[in-house]
Amino acid sequence: MCGIIGYTGYRNAVPVLIQGLEQLEYRGYDSAGIVCYDHRKGGFFLIKEKGKLAVLKEKIGNFSVDAHVGIGHTRWATHGEPSRANAHPHIDASGRVALVHNGIIENYAALKAVLQKKKVRFVSQTDTEVGAQLIGRCYVKGKGKSLFEAAKAAIPQMRGYFAFVLLSKDNPDTLVAYKHSNPLVIGLGQGENFVASDVTALLPYTRQVIYLEDDDLAVITRKDVRIFSLKSQTWVKREPATVHWNVSQAQKQGFPHFMLKEMHEQPVVLRNILEKRISKKGDIFFDTMTGGFRSRLRQIDRVYMVSCGTAHHAGLVGSVAMEKYARIPCRTQVSSEFRYGDPILSAKDLVILITQSGETADTLAALREAKAKGAATLAIVNVVGSTIAREADAVLYTHAGPEIGVASTKAYIAQLATLLLLVFYTGKLRRKIHPREFKTLIRDFRRLPEHCAKVLQEGKRFEACAQKHFSRRHFLYIGRGYNYPTALEGALKLKEISYAHAHGYAAGEMKHGPIALIDHEQPVICIAPDSLTYEKMISNIQEIRARDGIVIAIGSRGHHDLEKMADEFFSIPRTQEVFSPILTIIPLQFLAYKVAVLNGRDVDQPRNLAKSVTVE
Ligand code: F6R
Repeated sequence: MCGIIGYTGYRNAVPVLIQGLEQLEYRGYDSAGIVCYDHRKGGFFLIKEKGKLAVLKEKIGNFSVDAHVGIGHTRWATHGEPSRANAHPHIDASGRVALVHNGIIENYAALKAVLQKKKVRFVSQTDTEVGAQLIGRCYVKGKGKSLFEAAKAAIPQMRGYFAFVLLSKDNPDTLVAYKHSNPLVIGLGQGENFVASDVTALLPYTRQVIYLEDDDLAVITRKDVRIFSLKSQTWVKREPATVHWNVSQAQKQGFPHFMLKEMHEQPVVLRNILEKRISKKGDIFFDTMTGGFRSRLRQIDRVYMVSCGTAHHAGLVGSVAMEKYARIPCRTQVSSEFRYGDPILSAKDLVILITQSGETADTLAALREAKAKGAATLAIVNVVGSTIAREADAVLYTHAGPEIGVASTKAYIAQLATLLLLVFYTGKLRRKIHPREFKTLIRDFRRLPEHCAKVLQEGKRFEACAQKHFSRRHFLYIGRGYNYPTALEGALKLKEISYAHAHGYAAGEMKHGPIALIDHEQPVICIAPDSLTYEKMISNIQEIRARDGIVIAIGSRGHHDLEKMADEFFSIPRTQEVFSPILTIIPLQFLAYKVAVLNGRDVDQPRNLAKSVTVE
């Protein structure tokens, strides 16, 4: 989704803004732009272009600008097509106020009509320009006294979920930033300050940050940051936090794509989780869980797992495990259905929100709905300090490090591992897991990093498989139990980065419809590791073979019967069924990756997709 960067300080603002935008590229965008205050010329230097940042950079190369303050933006189109006119920043009719904005101003049409009646001329189709014009009018009417006062007067007229940053011609050292549901973080420097929609944009310069809270309106100069809360109508102090990620984590480090790099980081991610969450004695501990929340966990009657996309698939695995090991009824729903489904909730329910970014609009709305209805809420989040992490009653961080590739890989593995530990922890707390079984679970969990590294070593073999099948347009994925979600996730990975059609199914449902698709051209990826339902999977695979389907099987090492039956066979080390989704997904990530590369796709920034989905 859109990205925001703002700078005020002593450096040349243009390269700072460009570098910030480069760090935000991964979020997905279709146009980009910057505006700076050019001190030499005494006015705005505005430049924006449709397409990739490289186009913008080439254009900027022709100019010499003397600027130490500016704002920049990568746009992911919502209102109006991707074009130069619709790209941000937008400047108001007076030419005095510039604005970049993330999110949606929902009542933009009504506001635009009112402004048009007052003879304001619009040059774009965006909701953003409405914001710029509205604030611009308040500014001009207030005789340009203060951009802060203009924003304060305009904001109550705007409805929706958004964040923006403003710059004015008259007071060009100052940025004004506002957050309402969409994230904004201020980066603190020495004699310089930054603001961005995403902490990764700040990493090259500072790790000292302030996460703005909803309805914070910040006034940022090179020396000072002041925050006014529109909620409490007072100036407030927000404590700075230190970010523990570093710049190199957010770089490719020699890999051709972030996705491939992040897949290879998976053993390290599992090792980190192990070190952070399992003591030498073999106990699970969650540093962020209070005693109060622990006792709530003892008493709950029902669990909901609520999330979107890949995180939803992690929730499906977690939900099977929660019922089996903690014996608590558990329901899994996508956030967009949960939030509008009028869920029946009480203080005896626990709603677990799973999210990499911690900013997904639907998941945030689901969290608020759950809280409003009195349920206990627990967020499983990767990005520290994100909105969902801050608003939930308790948070468990997944410690996957920054995930840049749009297709989630290491964050998924980290979600699975964290959820399983939560399940074992809860099961033990409620005395549903026998101490002997608990010990075995921890022993086998400890082996996962090594198992994961072994699966990754087979990379070359996945390449050969992808070579055979990359031009096919339809793929089926089937699995059962813990690996039914793996089938869904494998299919999602393939479709989002290769644009081939892929569908995940519960294998037991084959006969109820999808088997009609099977012929000699239909590849079926069958996920069949050691499990309770292994024999059933074998029968499903026989049925596919009987109809000449192409069987690509993922099984456990030593399953020669399956190997013989399959056209392609990939094995994972033997482990308990509950851990298998952490390993079976790896061949499927590889398959998706290789198919996408062979089709010449933009793996890290697939078309139409965004890393952090901050609008509905
Ligand atoms: C797919 C993918 C998405 C996200 C989904 C939720 O590879 O990454 O499906 O999982 O948009 O995002 P978060 O986890 O940030 O809430």
